Amino acid sequence: MFKYTVASDAATQQVGAAVGRLVQPGSVIFLQGDLGAGKTTFTKGLASALGIQQYVKSPTFTLIREYTAGRIPLYHMDVYRLENGGGDELGLEEYFNGDGVSVVEWPQFIEDEWPTEYLQIMINKSATNDEQRELVFQPHGQRYEALVTQLAQML
Ligand SMILES: Nc1ncnc2c1ncn2[C@@H]1O[C@H](COP(=O)(O)OP(=O)(O)O)[C@@H](O)[C@H]1O
Ligand SMILES: [Mg+2]
Repeated sequence: MFKYTVASDAATQQVGAAVGRLVQPGSVIFLQGDLGAGKTTFTKGLASALGIQQYVKSPTFTLIREYTAGRIPLYHMDVYRLENGGGDELGLEEYFNGDGVSVVEWPQFIEDEWPTEYLQIMINKSATNDEQRELVFQPHGQRYEALVTQLAQML
């Protein structure tokens, strides 16, 4: 586990960008944290590092947005609306095993669909500072352990 504290929206985007430089086809990133924690903000930084210039907006209502103009495709998902199930109908396995990187907000609502290997990132708000966040990286699987080791060296 690797923890990193940031003090601004821009700093969260920079960490997202660092992760964006390390992901590969088939990478699966789970972003957890409350509403307003910074999951979508993190994804914007990740997208920019992939070379995606399109504006990244929350896929809250569409569930999945695909961006294909970068180094590898980005599949950005927000499955909050699946809190009562239905994740089995999204064909997530194909995204997770696909050519792009899958970034999932609220992954706890599709737990039945989780692959065996993924990188979990918790974004925790601070009780005392509006702009501070603690990012907790928990790799599951060897390639994500390697990714987090590299990330820790970059930050
Ligand atoms: N350190 C920070 N990291 C990320 N967002 C921050 C930070 N400080 C303030 N914010 C603000 O918090 C909000 C996070 O929103 P968003 O990324 O949409 O959250 P989520 O997707 O987790 O619901 C944005 O308005 C952002 O500007
Ligand atoms: Mg969001």
